Amino acid sequence: MNSHRVCLLPGDGIGVEVIAQAEAVLRALPVEWRFERGRIGFGAYQELGTPLPEETLAMVRRAEATLFGAVTTPPNLPGYFSPILRLRQGLDLYANIRPCRSFDHPSSRPGINLVIVRENTEGLYSGVERVEDGGDRAVSERIITRHASERIIHKAFQVARQNGFRKVTLVHKANVLRETCGLFRRVGLEIAPEYPDIVMEEMLVDTCAMELVRLPEQFEVIVTTNLFGDILSDEASMLVGGLGVAYSGNLGEQTAVFEPVHGSAPKLAGLDKANPAAAILSAAMLLDYLGEAESAAKVRQAVQACIARHQVTEDLGGSLTTSQMAQQVIEQLGSREKQVSQNVPVMEE
Ligand code: NAI
Ligand code: MG
Repeated sequence: MNSHRVCLLPGDGIGVEVIAQAEAVLRALPVEWRFERGRIGFGAYQELGTPLPEETLAMVRRAEATLFGAVTTPPNLPGYFSPILRLRQGLDLYANIRPCRSFDHPSSRPGINLVIVRENTEGLYSGVERVEDGGDRAVSERIITRHASERIIHKAFQVARQNGFRKVTLVHKANVLRETCGLFRRVGLEIAPEYPDIVMEEMLVDTCAMELVRLPEQFEVIVTTNLFGDILSDEASMLVGGLGVAYSGNLGEQTAVFEPVHGSAPKLAGLDKANPAAAILSAAMLLDYLGEAESAAKVRQAVQACIARHQVTEDLGGSLTTSQMAQQVIEQLGSREKQVSQNVPVMEE
């Protein structure tokens, strides 16, 4: 049995509930786990004075990979920072990978199989902001570098190859943002010939937002800058069932952090109502990253089977609690009756 050292960061609100269920699913697999649990988020700030204690950062650094829940980020609290943004930047987790595939469920549109590859360290989220003119003029700097553009675009082509995709769509707004998006686009056009087996097309971000609604089946891999990727991936998640099933990975050269796309959902917290699927599917992505492809496929199939049978929480029209749905997934792990397609994003290099 393989052994893996994994850091669990439940965070705040429903993060705590969904990570507990994802952990239960991981423990049901034939893998020996060495879990370390760290504090992160607003609860950590209230108790320890910081949303991202040094100890947590060290834990993430020494783990093979991390599973993160969600945090509450209060607006307007002076000196507060978003610990997940800090974690992504601090560990140089430069690629945010968000797969989006149809489920066999009325909440999901059929025929969708795409992956959004979002640059995760710069762009409009560089954190370079200031106010001028006595507070009447606010400025955000949008930083785009050749280095970050090159590695994210290479990552997109690699994700395409690993998953048998034939097309990468480079999304930008270079007609208006001539310097920043212009550089990103130019780097894409330079890199594309290195992957002759894959077609690269380009699309303006506003067109892409529209096309995701009109004809999402046309997309395979989408690669884009930080803010555009954030918005387009939330949009895409709604095509296949919404935040309760949207999962992601933040990949760097040294380590990776996997997380559901949703936040801490304060109104659902403590009610045992949150959909655990997004966290469990994030755990499946973590399994792939650790080289546990067989277990990853089993977990995905189990989640897909539960959703197809409508064994789901309220957000998908069902009546199961968080823990009941996770229990169904665990029971399904043992069963071999239904083989679901395995054409799923594999994160291992
Ligand atoms: P949210 O994702 O927490 O909730 C948005 C809506 O989706 C709510 O109606 C919620 O009930 C529903 N929802 C979310 N996850 C669900 C699940 N697993 N099952 C069923 N329904 C689910 O986003 P919101 O409300 O904008 O933010 C709440 C807090 O979360 C804020 O403090 C925000 O800063 C933080 N946040 C944290 C993120 C992270 O940790 N990566 C990402 C997004 C928001
Ligand atoms: Mg978002």
